[in-house]
Amino acid sequence: MEERRKLTIPDLLAMVERGEKIAFLTAYDYPSALLEDRAGMDMILVGDSGAMCLLGHKTTLPATMDFMVAITAAVSRAASRAFVVGDMPYMSYQPSNELAIKNAGRFIAEGGADAVKLEGGVRMADRVEAIVKAGIPVMGHIGLTPQAASMIGGLKSQGRSAQTAKQLIDDAACLEEAGAFAILLEAIPARVAELIAKRAKVPILGIGSGPACHGQLLIVHDILGLFEAFTPKFVKRYADLAPIMLQAFQGYIRDVKEGAFPGPEHVYHIPKEEWEELRAMIQSSTMGEGHGLA
Ligand code: KIV
Repeated sequence: MEERRKLTIPDLLAMVERGEKIAFLTAYDYPSALLEDRAGMDMILVGDSGAMCLLGHKTTLPATMDFMVAITAAVSRAASRAFVVGDMPYMSYQPSNELAIKNAGRFIAEGGADAVKLEGGVRMADRVEAIVKAGIPVMGHIGLTPQAASMIGGLKSQGRSAQTAKQLIDDAACLEEAGAFAILLEAIPARVAELIAKRAKVPILGIGSGPACHGQLLIVHDILGLFEAFTPKFVKRYADLAPIMLQAFQGYIRDVKEGAFPGPEHVYHIPKEEWEELRAMIQSSTMGEGHGLA
């Protein structure tokens, strides 16, 4: 029987130590997080990708602190075992250390998260250090960093030249030095990720960064076949829920139109004597006229 207590950072380190891979998936709502937790997910990321998957935006940039904190709280309420990471949205940490600490604190106090994640390597090390010094665990995120998409040439894999790969290695070392408890590598070459994972003393999680990472992250809507705008190369689909949901919606519409729903099993009943009393009341009043009571 699996232990249901909440996982902690030492538990994640112990998993890496014994060579057990960390299973990491995004969630943005209570029912999905409940199922992920029940399935045995080790970590859940409440990603700012929710702006795209849930709200239909074209980028992650419109995600606000209030939106992120609300959905993080929903996920945290569901996660009895999984370690929950709240994703700091665009401009919630970039402007200053003070703002970064204040907003990271909201993820913990209001969102119930176990840690926060922010994007950027060397240039964000100061923010990581400040938040960690305030007592909040931080996950770094380098490689394809969607909040900086226009600066890095779009949603493209990163670190494919010797120079940019070396920069990623330096970024990872710098984030570790700044106190990050884990680092997420997004869409970087598998061999570069392997180098980083071998050198690191903290868990290295990967999304589209090959099998050598200590754990793997994917986006829940991608693995369930619920995000149709585009599918990155690294996605593996484990279910195709869109046609199943479509069929359910069509079935409901058909039943409503044809009067097949609600059936006798879906209606509430008034006891016979109450019905008779109601009839008598209505018939003896002028209001009863035209009410069609049988
Ligand atoms: O927002 C998110 O889901 C992320 C992943 C794509 C890494 O940051």
